[in-house]
Amino acid sequence: MSDESTSFANNLLSQMTLDEKIGQLHQYFSWGNFDPEVVRKGKAGSVINASGALSGQGFSGSGSAQISNHIQQLAMESRLKIPQILGRDVIHGYRTIFPIPLAQSAAFDISLAEQAASIAAKEASADGVKWTFAPMLDIARDPRWGRVAEGNGEDPYLGSQLAAAVIKGFQGTDYSAADRIVACAKHYVGYGSAEGGRDYDNGEISELTLRDIYLPPFHSAVKAGVGTLMSAFLDLNGVPATANRKLLTDVLRGEWGFDGFVVSDWDSVVELINHGVAENESEAAELAFHAGVDMEMVSRTYPNTLAFNLQNGKISLEEIDEGVRRILRIKHRAGLFANPFTDLARSSRDILTPNSRALARKFAQDTIVLLKNKDNILPLKNHCKVLVGGYFIHATAELFGTWTPDGNPADVQPFSTAFSENAPRDFELHFADNTDLALAIAQESDLVILTLGENPRRSGENSNVSDLSLPPGQAEFVDQMIALGKPVIMVIFAGRPLAIGRQVSQADAVLYAWHPGIEGAAAIADIIFGRVSPSARLPITFPRATGQVPIYYNHKNSGRPVSPDGPFRTRYVDLPASPLFPFGFGLTYTNFDYAKIALSSESLRNQLRVSADITNTGQTAGVEVVQLYVRDLVGSVTRPIRELKNYQKIFLKPGESRRVSFIITEEDLAFTHLDGSFSVEPGKFEVWIAPDSSSGINATFRI
Ligand code: NOJ
Repeated sequence: MSDESTSFANNLLSQMTLDEKIGQLHQYFSWGNFDPEVVRKGKAGSVINASGALSGQGFSGSGSAQISNHIQQLAMESRLKIPQILGRDVIHGYRTIFPIPLAQSAAFDISLAEQAASIAAKEASADGVKWTFAPMLDIARDPRWGRVAEGNGEDPYLGSQLAAAVIKGFQGTDYSAADRIVACAKHYVGYGSAEGGRDYDNGEISELTLRDIYLPPFHSAVKAGVGTLMSAFLDLNGVPATANRKLLTDVLRGEWGFDGFVVSDWDSVVELINHGVAENESEAAELAFHAGVDMEMVSRTYPNTLAFNLQNGKISLEEIDEGVRRILRIKHRAGLFANPFTDLARSSRDILTPNSRALARKFAQDTIVLLKNKDNILPLKNHCKVLVGGYFIHATAELFGTWTPDGNPADVQPFSTAFSENAPRDFELHFADNTDLALAIAQESDLVILTLGENPRRSGENSNVSDLSLPPGQAEFVDQMIALGKPVIMVIFAGRPLAIGRQVSQADAVLYAWHPGIEGAAAIADIIFGRVSPSARLPITFPRATGQVPIYYNHKNSGRPVSPDGPFRTRYVDLPASPLFPFGFGLTYTNFDYAKIALSSESLRNQLRVSADITNTGQTAGVEVVQLYVRDLVGSVTRPIRELKNYQKIFLKPGESRRVSFIITEEDLAFTHLDGSFSVEPGKFEVWIAPDSSSGINATFRI
């Protein structure tokens, strides 16, 4: 590829020593003991300003414009003045913390995701961070895995849409702009398939599932122009992802034409020794570098052994030059050679503005899923005495969720204050986090609001659970509260789907709030008191019990499909096989009717239009997420029983009706065949326009 950035990189390469080249391939982490000479002598191409072992699960306060500019100043003292690209985990906001990525997916709104990412980019870049390790695009079918919080759930279509939107939000159309940053699609690839939901553990994914489920969000990221990718930790199908040349080079660069650079995950190069595919550091470096990992994060096998590998003919100078070229090209595209420094006046101007907070509140409102609303108890209408109890009423940082090293708990308005400020004046609110006190006050109250769920440290990196129930003690507390016989509204905070069947059956209403971010408490008050009507939908299937996982909507039919009746079917003897809540599910404060599905033609040639009437049959206005699913009824390989292909979010007043139309193209129906080709197969298809993945109205067509 010959563009200005490539020519620039080539020119610089011609002036570089071998040591300087290898330096560019290393990402330096100081373990709290920063050595300025590493940068001044050109021994690193990037400095990672991470919070180390905490994996971002806590406020570090370690990022600042002064630190960034100091590092760049050292880079300007190096022989060739090559700027650093400073990387940091800006995952769902920098200082303005938005809902966790899994929650963001529940909004079914790519525009909100893009806007949030662009605010994160503006804030991070103000502090000199020019590169974020986001978005995480790992499909997750097992909520035991803690990192399910960081991704977009189980669906490749929704995941691909969000991938493109978030990358656009971070990078804009030109990431040399001062308020944009370079994105990093991670973890390439299959990381969410870790066996048993154990982070870092191995995965086995068939070629067809890899191609049609796990790879599409990454392909979408590349099409959206993502600057970098991160290789995953796991051993996938017998080859550690960080040593997989087929995926990192043949697919990524050969098939998709990616011309950015690949960074390893933290120590994932040296860990090739633990995986048992390399005997020592030089073999690990050779494998990873040859596979297509251009920059090594933290571990030092590249600086320690690449020169030796070159001498021994294990890798070539052309390969080294190509790795360096890719890194310099991205640095040039990021405008770092033109200006490596950030303007110190920016942080006070650009970080945590009223507009950012307003977007965080709107985003949180749109991510909270109403799972149950018996007798329309919500929104609360009749003024009464309310006990607000449970584990999160004074929570601040706990509302952020995982990976928020720059979120400051002091910025968060806790539930108790947000509720007092946002409740209509004649509600009498009492707060109690102590369970005994809560039970005592509840006895005197008309209604109970219970905050339940997980601390963010229970999700995120390396925070897996073997049991998807509420954390210990909470179910018993709920039982005691229910025994009082008062109406109970539950607000559940979590970084994953929890198996809350018992609590859902006990409650009058359930709001699933995930970890909603800096404005989460106010957003919940907005929904409970009816200022906002809930509209979010589940981006991942909710199991009834841990033993059901992996459970996901787009599964195959099998020869003996799931059926509640009849023996010798896919089922459990102790539990229905169906989920507690299906993918796409979520209630509103009104009801919608689906009718009159019609196709523009009975057979699809290039494209086809499918339409239906959606009517708001309730008493209040509401937003409906109208979903389009298809099923390829007969294929040369088995096909999922449903696949999401599109959705529209529509606002309807009471009694209002709208005809909603979707276009389906041949490309929408294409899939991977046994010979590796990707195309649509002629035959019969079923299509649904639906409120979730397990219902809706349907029709059939042929190709
Ligand atoms: C390890 C994590 O797997 C990755 O997602 C993160 O970006 C890096 N650490 C850097 O903190």
